[in-house]
Amino acid sequence: MINSASAIAHPNIAFIKYWGNRDDALRLPANGSVSMNLGALYTRTTVAFRKDLSEHLIRINGETADSQACSRIAKFLSDLSLTPDIYGNAEIISENNFPIGAGIASSASAFAALALAASAAAGLELSENELSLRARYGSGSACRSIPDGFCEWVYGNSSGESIAHSIAPSSHWDLTDLIAVVSRKHKKTGSSKGPMSALTSPFQKARVDSAPGRIGRCREAILNRDFAALAEVSEQDMIMMHGVMMTQDPPLFYWEPVSLELVKLVREWREEGMECFATLDAGPNVHVICTAGSADPVRERLEKIPGVDEILCSGPGGKAVLI
Ligand code: DP6
Repeated sequence: MINSASAIAHPNIAFIKYWGNRDDALRLPANGSVSMNLGALYTRTTVAFRKDLSEHLIRINGETADSQACSRIAKFLSDLSLTPDIYGNAEIISENNFPIGAGIASSASAFAALALAASAAAGLELSENELSLRARYGSGSACRSIPDGFCEWVYGNSSGESIAHSIAPSSHWDLTDLIAVVSRKHKKTGSSKGPMSALTSPFQKARVDSAPGRIGRCREAILNRDFAALAEVSEQDMIMMHGVMMTQDPPLFYWEPVSLELVKLVREWREEGMECFATLDAGPNVHVICTAGSADPVRERLEKIPGVDEILCSGPGGKAVLI
């Protein structure tokens, strides 16, 4: 029996955001979402089930995982019925080529790679839909890192239906994500508790009720490669999500002053005719999405902004794969 497997998955950047669950235990989202996988960034994870281990052994980026990460992963394996009594404990070695926990969706690529590697190590051959569902249990946005390219996580009428599928392959549109890293600090509030408090914001209902319209516009913009439409709907959706975050109880302020400065500057650059827009997840780093033609001039401008420590660059990425 094969009891070891390795997988690679890419993080994704959401154009239409997931924030809030209608069922926290199942991670059933309050609204659907749309994203693009980031091909230059990845998590590579190896899982080996071993009967000789008395507990799971988990190493992330060369260090033993902290107790919070260990219990989240142990719960994830048990939710997937990959329990020690049947399979043995898991030795998990995971590496990322980008800073984790700073709003670059490390939990998305981490749980997508883990879902695939752990299922394969247990000898299961799962469809893409089943893998997307399994990844969702670990982290909502992880379900969007299973399929290829540009993905939509559908609301779904049941848990089994709330999975992500590819709207268009990574080759469909040569967009670039320039990630302006303004802080490598591990964020104080991990996103995991944040979505669970979303309904404490009076604005969450309005955001959720209007999400289907934005999802439709975003899907059409991607299919038609209509950058102006994608920029408009994505920026609006991002600002709505951060409005909800800031008005939750307790409030979540993910933006640093330089994040706001960048959002305003990117809007000015777009008004000057450059094809770019800004979006932020649960962290202060600013993803500036550009067309291929605008990426170099936008990058040159970003490099000159004080407070931007580093710029990571990625095009669209493929699906999660076994290696
Ligand atoms: C702000 O998927 O990280 O990045 O399910 O609790 O792990 P958990 O949350 P996570 O949610 C973060 C959502 C977001 C927006 C998005 O990616 O859609």
